[in-house]
Amino acid sequence: MESNVLEFINLTQNKKGYKELFKLVLDHTVKVLGKEDKYRVSLTLVSLDEMTKLNNEYRGLNRPTDVLTFAFQEADVLSLDEYTDLGNIIISPDVALKQAGEFNHPFLREMAFLFIHGLLHSFGWDHHRSKEEEIEMFALQNKILNSLPYDFYTNLNKVKKLLLDAKEKAYAPYSNFHVGAIVLTKDNKYHLGFNIENASYGLSMCAERVALYHCYTLGYKKEDILSLSLMTSSTDLGSPCGACRQVMLELMDENTPVHIFNNDASKHICMANKDLLPLGFTSKELEQ
Ligand code: THU
Repeated sequence: MESNVLEFINLTQNKKGYKELFKLVLDHTVKVLGKEDKYRVSLTLVSLDEMTKLNNEYRGLNRPTDVLTFAFQEADVLSLDEYTDLGNIIISPDVALKQAGEFNHPFLREMAFLFIHGLLHSFGWDHHRSKEEEIEMFALQNKILNSLPYDFYTNLNKVKKLLLDAKEKAYAPYSNFHVGAIVLTKDNKYHLGFNIENASYGLSMCAERVALYHCYTLGYKKEDILSLSLMTSSTDLGSPCGACRQVMLELMDENTPVHIFNNDASKHICMANKDLLPLGFTSKELEQ
């Protein structure tokens, strides 16, 4: 059964499929906050004119704003089912688009950020109350956004093409199992890797490690890496081997998305780096 409910109303002209992203944001926010209940929230996307009207009506400001939250008041209605109501969040995609341009980050990242902001308000946070609360609330917002299992940066169509090409180039005469890997860095460069085998079998190197080591030799560090994608010869979803997972946890941030494709890219899954190696061994262990 579904854990949380998102009532999504899109009153704008642009009917893109945002609902899945917002549902993911809702579930992830509840998880990071460690909340145990099942929540229901209503999210409405409105036009610039409508947002201006609402902002004027409720805050006396005759200009548009990015997000408005109408937190649920307990006295409003008694919950008649198993859900705890969080209230209504209103977002203006036009303002989000403008802000995304100003911050030079993707539009959907800004939309997710605004929804997280609204959700924290509906959970009782208020950055207007004090400087300390503002600092705490904004840090929490970033923590939720940066650990979201969603990739705002990787062009998956481009990655698919690059992976098919990388896989073809693999040097795998012994196993004939071809693997391609692509690492995307913050300067929007896509770096390739493929498996390179050896007659002394144990010396073979996997595609993921070739791609990552390649990046590090070019001077990139973990904070420069936006994603790693891989494709194997398998008709089912491939899977990085244990050794690669260990190296990935060392050389990439624990929240960096990892995209896994099957041989023709008809199947795809995205996971956070840390979820590929639960209880993974890291330098933190050595500090004990
Ligand atoms: N291989 C990779 O390149 N990545 C993986 O994550 C799994 C395995 C390669 C290594 C070897 O060349 C071939 O696949 C068969 O094990």
